Amino acid sequence: MNLSGRNALVTGGASGIGAAVAEALVKAGSTVTIVDINQEALKATGARLNVRAEVLDVSSSEAWADFIAAHDHFDLVHLNAGITTHRNVLDGPTDPLSPPLVRMTDDEYRRAIGVNVDGVVFGARAVIPEMCERRTGDIVVTASVAAFVPIPPDPIYGLTKYAVSGLVKSLSPRLAEYGVCISAICPGFVDTPLIGERARDWIAELGMPLMKTQQVVDAVSTSLIRRVNGAHWIVLPDQDPILHEQATVPFPTNPQ
Ligand SMILES: NC(=O)c1ccc[n+]([C@@H]2O[C@H](COP(=O)([O-])OP(=O)(O)OC[C@H]3O[C@@H](n4cnc5c(N)ncnc54)[C@H](O)[C@@H]3O)[C@@H](O)[C@H]2O)c1
Repeated sequence: MNLSGRNALVTGGASGIGAAVAEALVKAGSTVTIVDINQEALKATGARLNVRAEVLDVSSSEAWADFIAAHDHFDLVHLNAGITTHRNVLDGPTDPLSPPLVRMTDDEYRRAIGVNVDGVVFGARAVIPEMCERRTGDIVVTASVAAFVPIPPDPIYGLTKYAVSGLVKSLSPRLAEYGVCISAICPGFVDTPLIGERARDWIAELGMPLMKTQQVVDAVSTSLIRRVNGAHWIVLPDQDPILHEQATVPFPTNPQ
């Protein structure tokens, strides 16, 4: 992958998938900025990769506006920051009569929507105008296989990933007219700090191996090279990324 001259932004770039993608983008020649809310991890990853590392809470539209105003254009954006509600669900008491939806607090719900959905909506809204004006750009959204299959222990996580999948599909036809590509990466379980101890037990019970972040990096590379607008790249253990293209849109993209 040769991405020299590209100005890249990775949200949730201090840890896990985001940090691994940021590292790959640096190796491919991009100028990379990582953003996150975890200041300690940001500092460590920023120093390790020798990239610009800044605090940005992706769930805040004001923070996005300030951030974009303070920076030159980005032409490669990985909207990746995300959380689960497993801290209170999979790591909490496992009473089958107390489903996760009922046990979750309003604050936990708002936070999950804020990071996983608002973070992608606000991020896309912040970077799309300049990409369209310049008639170039790539946006990669980290969704999940949860956009396709049920995740019973964390239904709100499933909701958020389904939501961003819909956003990617619906934005892609118009963006394609401007040479801007948006696609989604949909990994199964990946070995990152996002997966808590109880979640690891549950995944082991399912007989699902945890993937290395490199597999997700490979899928992001594939999405950037192939540039299939609106595509969802499914990432499963020991397989090449699987292209799940959206159905052809039966509507005119620019209705009168
Ligand atoms: N690990 C998996 O099994 C898996 C599978 C499919 C999809 N994903 C998705 O991959 C993405 C990255 O997750 P990961 O597995 O690398 O986990 P991670 O916890 O290692 O990284 C997520 C990063 O997002 C940051 N973050 C959280 N809230 C934020 C906010 N408000 N603003 C900015 N940054 C914020 C965290 O501080 C963290 O550094 C997420 O969207 C996640 O849903 C993960």
